[in-house]
Amino acid sequence: MREPIVIAHRGASGYRPEHTLASYRLAIALGADYVEPDLVSTRDGVLVARHEAEIGRTTDVARRAEFAGRLTTKEVDGRAATGWFVDDFTLAELKTLRVVERLPALRPRNARWDGRYDVPTFEEILGLVAAESERLGRPIGVYPETKHPAYFAELGLGLEEPLLEALARHGSGGPDAPVFVQSFDPVSLQWLRSRTGLPLVQLVGATGLPHDQRDLVTSTGLRRVAAWADAVGVEKDLVLPRHPTTGTLGDPTDLVADAHAAGLLVHVWTMRDEHDSVEETQAFLDAGVDGLFTDQPDTTLEARRRYASGIRIHAAM
Ligand code: G3P
Ligand code: CA
Repeated sequence: MREPIVIAHRGASGYRPEHTLASYRLAIALGADYVEPDLVSTRDGVLVARHEAEIGRTTDVARRAEFAGRLTTKEVDGRAATGWFVDDFTLAELKTLRVVERLPALRPRNARWDGRYDVPTFEEILGLVAAESERLGRPIGVYPETKHPAYFAELGLGLEEPLLEALARHGSGGPDAPVFVQSFDPVSLQWLRSRTGLPLVQLVGATGLPHDQRDLVTSTGLRRVAAWADAVGVEKDLVLPRHPTTGTLGDPTDLVADAHAAGLLVHVWTMRDEHDSVEETQAFLDAGVDGLFTDQPDTTLEARRRYASGIRIHAAM
């Protein structure tokens, strides 16, 4: 049986500002199997890595006088958001911005890197992954996510076609390529299913619309999902619920068994040193998951290594 994969969530985002080439490069150096870019589109249709369409929290745009007039409010996936939006910037304009740490209070060491990096394009990420795979002599996978695909489609900036084109240009278009394409939006995945044999991942969150689609992870729902996806990427509480007051992990749900019965892999998000111990990570391996998103790839790889060696310390249940 294949070892569960370790997916560097937004790169090694526990150590560098997320979604920068530095974050992906470090994740690769730490040994991650896959790196995860969330993808959005510039006004001129170039895919870039950001977690959301609004870029005020992860770049210095708010301090840039020349872009002050672009502060606005938009509705994204049914929610009003105020800030600066990637779809109002050409790639050339976006490249003048510099990335800042999203969580400076939680990760002050990451803020030391503020102002050093630009927003990478998907092409640049694929180039880095190809170069590092060659240099290190191991295949490094990419695990791109279509972010707010309906929002971008409405603007005429559909994410899916340029995503497939970029992967094909980098020789990652075939079913055996180390690629998973993920989305919360079944419509995005269903479109992709009609065009590609690449493995597709239906994301499902545990809290908060629009990502809470728990009807998709019932045994019936999972059989439906198998029509357009090869895996589910679920918020980890859906596999091992945490006690609301003590914080300890509860008994596993039926999700992993139901998903496997439907022919789907199960990847969970997101392991974080601030919240999850090595022992808790091992509890997810015990629960039979096939992959783990992580902000600290070295910690999760260590948990996997210990687990494979038979060193199993069970988390408090
Ligand atoms: O893609 C897995 C996980 O990253 C989903 O949530 O919001 O962090 O992209 P988000
Ligand atoms: Ca993501």
